[in-house]
Amino acid sequence: MKILLGVLVLSLASAIQVVPIPKYYDGYYLGPAHSNYTLETFIDLLCPKSAAAFPALIQYYTQNQHWLELIIHQSPMSYNTFSFPVSQAGKFVLEKKSERYLDWVYYWFQHQQSFTNNTASYDFYTANNKIAQFTSQSTGLPINQVTQALSNQDFNTKARVSWKFGASRNIPGTPSYLLNGVWVPDAYNITTVAGWTSFFQAISSGN
Ligand SMILES: *[C@@H]1O[C@H](CO)[C@@H](O)[C@H](O)[C@H]1NC(C)=O
Ligand SMILES: *[C@@H]1O[C@H](CO)[C@@H](O)[C@H](O)[C@H]1NC(C)=O
Ligand SMILES: *[C@@H]1O[C@H](CO)[C@@H](O)[C@H](O)[C@H]1NC(C)=O
Repeated sequence: MKILLGVLVLSLASAIQVVPIPKYYDGYYLGPAHSNYTLETFIDLLCPKSAAAFPALIQYYTQNQHWLELIIHQSPMSYNTFSFPVSQAGKFVLEKKSERYLDWVYYWFQHQQSFTNNTASYDFYTANNKIAQFTSQSTGLPINQVTQALSNQDFNTKARVSWKFGASRNIPGTPSYLLNGVWVPDAYNITTVAGWTSFFQAISSGN
């Protein structure tokens, strides 16, 4: 019994260590550091619903950036083939050219189908080359640097840390949203500025 308990405590201890503490709060930040509302979005670059939601989200943010803080988290879902290496490329962009990160996100969402329609026939080599090509086209970073980043353990770890952060917040799919740290499932279907406007109106009028 004692031994069993010991094993249990040990395995709990190692389970608790599974989510590494990010060096900074996870994600890409937009807007004021102190705001009444912080909206966190969890996106997958290969998810069609994330692509459909993103333009209106950024538009609403742009119109309300004097008070709204927006944090973009990368949450590659396991069922979207090659989503993880795309996310790894995103970590490279964030490190080398963060000022082009939003361009990179937009580019993926706009060209998503020309990638996902063909992933069934891609091996990892082909996929990585395509990812490097998209990343280079959207940011100006050299293709060979991106392919190197895709086999670099540091960027792999960074992408994992973000994924684990989302998992630790029980993010079940994308797009998902936290408002001031609270999961808001109702936001899942919002794809228009009007949708966000009424969402926030309802919040501030206490509904
Ligand atoms: C991807 O496939 C869908 C469904 O077959 C099609 O409607 C769409 O035009 C394709 N897009 C590209 C860029 O190939
Ligand atoms: C999103 O829309 C779908 C299709 O209209 C609907 O089935 C689902 O319940 C909606 N989800 C939320 C959280 O509103
Ligand atoms: C947040 O505060 C700003 C400035 O005080 C205000 O203009 C904005 O409407 C507030 N947002 C919400 C959703 O209440």
